[in-house]
This record gives sequence, C-alpha cells and structure tokens, in this order.
Amino acid sequence: MTVAAHTRTGGAGAMQHDRRRYRITGGRPLHGSVTVGGAKNAVTKQLVASLLTSEPSILTNVPRIVEVEIVLHMLAELGTKITWLDAKSLRVETPQITSPSLSELYSGVNRIPILMMGPLLHRVGESSIPLPGGCRIGKRPIDFHLAGLREMGAEVTEMPRSVTVKTLRLEGAHVTLPFPSVGATENILLAAVLARGTTVIHNAAVEPEVLDTIHFLQQMGALVSVEVDRTIIVEGVDRLHGTTHRPINDRIEAASFAAAAVATGGRVEVRGAQQEHLVTFLNHLRKLGGDFRVTEAGILFYRQRPLTAEHVETGVHPGFMTDWQQPLVVLLTQAQGSSVIHETIYEDRFGYTSQLNRMGANIALSTACLGGRECRFASKDFPHSAIVMGATLLCGGPLEIPDLRAGFAYILAALVAHGTSEISGTRYLERGYEDPVGKLRAIGADVETVPVSSDNT
Ligand code: EPZ
Repeated sequence: MTVAAHTRTGGAGAMQHDRRRYRITGGRPLHGSVTVGGAKNAVTKQLVASLLTSEPSILTNVPRIVEVEIVLHMLAELGTKITWLDAKSLRVETPQITSPSLSELYSGVNRIPILMMGPLLHRVGESSIPLPGGCRIGKRPIDFHLAGLREMGAEVTEMPRSVTVKTLRLEGAHVTLPFPSVGATENILLAAVLARGTTVIHNAAVEPEVLDTIHFLQQMGALVSVEVDRTIIVEGVDRLHGTTHRPINDRIEAASFAAAAVATGGRVEVRGAQQEHLVTFLNHLRKLGGDFRVTEAGILFYRQRPLTAEHVETGVHPGFMTDWQQPLVVLLTQAQGSSVIHETIYEDRFGYTSQLNRMGANIALSTACLGGRECRFASKDFPHSAIVMGATLLCGGPLEIPDLRAGFAYILAALVAHGTSEISGTRYLERGYEDPVGKLRAIGADVETVPVSSDNT
C-alpha cells in the first residue's frame, strides 16, 4: 500500500474529530495476553531522521496509530515517498525536498515539525515550520530548541504561528540544556549529525526512545556517543545513508496494560514489554501490591495482595516517567491509604483528576512539592503534586478525554468502576494507542464502540 495524494488538511484533519466513542462496563478482571507496538516517541522521530538522506529507509514494528498517520502526512507534504511494505513495515524515501516548509495547518498539532528544522536546513538551507503551541498538560515552550539551533549558527525568526530558520551551514557547538528535554536533545542531535565539526550536548535527555533514535542515526552513518554524565557528543559527518531499523517497543503502552491487569485484579501477559525500559515502574508496582514475572515473550502482570498507598515522584530517565503517572493514579485510587505523587516534568499534568473525583475518587492537588524534594516548580503556584486517598469506589459515567495519557487513565477508571462509562475524546487516545479496543476486548474487557460522524462531535 502506498500513501499518495495527500490533501493539505489530511494529516491535521486526522485528529479533529472522534472516530468513535467507547462504552465500557467495569468490574471484570482482565485475563490473557496483549502485544505492545513500537514506541510512538521513537518511531515518529526516526521518520523525521529519515529526511537527513535522499536514500530510502525502512522501519519495521511501526505502530498503526493516528500520530504516525499525521507524521506521514507531514513528510508527504515535504516530498517523502511512503510505502507500507506490510502491516507494520514502512519504507520512506525523500529523494528531493519538494517543499521546504510545512503548512500552518499543522500549527498546534504536535511537536514533530520543530524536529524537522535541522534536517531541512541540511537539505535546503531554510525552512518555515508551524509552532506546536501549548497544550492541556502545560505550556511546553520550545526555547531550548531554538537556543540550541541558534548556537549552531541558524538564523531563527519567530512569528505568531510559525518559526523560520535559515543557515548556510550548521556548525558544531557546545549546548547546555537548562533541563534534560527529550525534544530539545533530539532536535540538536538531528541538526548536529551533519553539521561541520563536533557538537556537545550537556544535560541531555537519555530516555530509551532518544537512545533508540541515536541507534537509528548511527546505522545511517552518524557518529554519536553518550557519556555517563548525560553528555552527548556528535561528530558531524558529510553524508548519511538509508538504513533498516526496528524501533523499541512502547514502554508507556506496556505500563498502561500492566496497570489495567493489577487495577482489575486480573492477570495479563504484556508481550513485548521490555524489563530494562520499565525498571522504575516495576519497583513501584511491586511496592503497591502488584507483581510481575518476566516471560519469554514479555512480562506477566498480576495483583499479589490488596493494594496499599505508594509515594512516587516523576522524573527524567531512569526515573518514573511522567507518562506512567496517569494510569498509576487510577491504580492508587484502589489502594488503601494516602499516596503522594509529585510531578516534576510538567507543571500542569493533573487536570484530568477532576473527572476521576466526579467518579468517586478522592484526589487533592497541591502547589507544594510534596514528597520531600523541591523541583523547579517550587513556589510557582502550579498544582503539580497530588494526594490520592483510597481505596475509593468509582462509579461509571460520562468521561471526556483531555489528552493522550489521561485517555488511558479514564479507560482504566471505567474498567474498575461500577456501572457503565461513555468515553468521548477518544481521538486523543488513538493518537498513541494502537487498536485499544481490540486489545482490551482480547483480555476480556466489556468495551463497545459507538461510531461518531465528523459533523456531530
Ligand atoms: C516528550 O515530550 C514526549 N513526547 C512526551 O510524551 C513525554 O512526556 C516527554 O518527552 C517527557 O518524557 C514526544 O516524544 C513526542 P520535554 P517533549 O521537552 O520532548 C520543558 C506522550 O504522551 N521544556 O522533555 O516535548 C517542558 O515544558 C507525550 O507521548 C522547556 O521549558 O518533552 C517540560 O516541562 C506527552 N523548553 C520539560 O521541559 C523547551 O524548549 C520536559 O519536556 C523544551 C522543553
């Protein structure tokens, strides 16, 4: 199958409306096995990295999620030829950049276009890229990205909805990130691999998805080393070539199904779950009463004893991922005692808890850094700590998903709740979870879909 004839609205349009709502009746323990897909936050970056060469690259283990569809539409607009070789394998080839700029229709859609600046500067010397905008989990600025590119010699002009970059040639530089940002690290990496000279990124992010993208770049011919102190050194090379790569599996999807197994008191083997990417999650899961066994195909998750309160602080890798926080909170509504969660990555990532409280949860938010350690949000009036008092009985009802990761939390809440929940805003969930309904049904969840036409959302 070939992706062809994209309309300009095609990619952005893919996320405007719910394709379906979910009706979930809770109370059934989940049993069986699910298979996780490739990691969204690795695959989408590797698709951008493929722009660094005119040669074809092949990615296998590509998840069939809306976010990948959107990125493919973006690439097609730039001149990429896209061919699905089978259900999960994708060939991408950009012999020529046919348009150096992406349409402003992608403004506010996601953070992928800003990563295209480096590759487009290398291919055509200038580019105009839509800005990602803020979102419901925080302001999410791109100042680190732009400062890094400026240090590498790019001329950057910011407009209200887009940013224009120009350069004759990117130069290696020493870039110190104020915070180990995943996106800014990737942005500088993608700019540095073909820059003249050596780039050193201090205080870089070393999340498994970042390392996987480094592996992809190394396979393309790049020279990148990761030091023990989160410093990344990139020696620029003159050209990169195409490659074939199997991205790592999605550790957020794996943790989501693990939480679903333990929350419902079931037993689920998450095939493709990789222990080395889940170490911190597994420790906390065990401490709160869940347990696991590593199997040949993945990890088997189950409840070991009645759940009890747990204290968790999100952090950069190898800490507890901010994207594991939402399913964990639902799990803790079913645990005896008061749990404290301190969110240190995003300043505003607990908004989704108000709908859980309407279902019967007892979650209080605080602007203090609860749990012992001050983070960069101390004294800034952001509700970035939560106290979850449990165990509470949740009751099903209408739920409106505000963002991707809150989406799975609501599914989980509906699965443990008494009664039926009708969930809308599923377009957010489907951006990052592959066939969530099919996978949940396969392990015994009572989920129905209700089709939604685009004119009545
Ligand atoms: C990536 O976002 C992921 N997204 C996020 O997953 C993930 O939550 C996050 O990393 C942290 O692991 C993708 O990979 C597409 P950051 P990213 O830059 O790169 C601040 C999901 O659901 N910051 O590491 O945008 C920022 O505001 C998503 O899959 C600046 O201040 O995250 C945040 O507080 C949600 N200025 C912190 O750094 C900047 O220029 C970390 O953000 C850049 C970031």
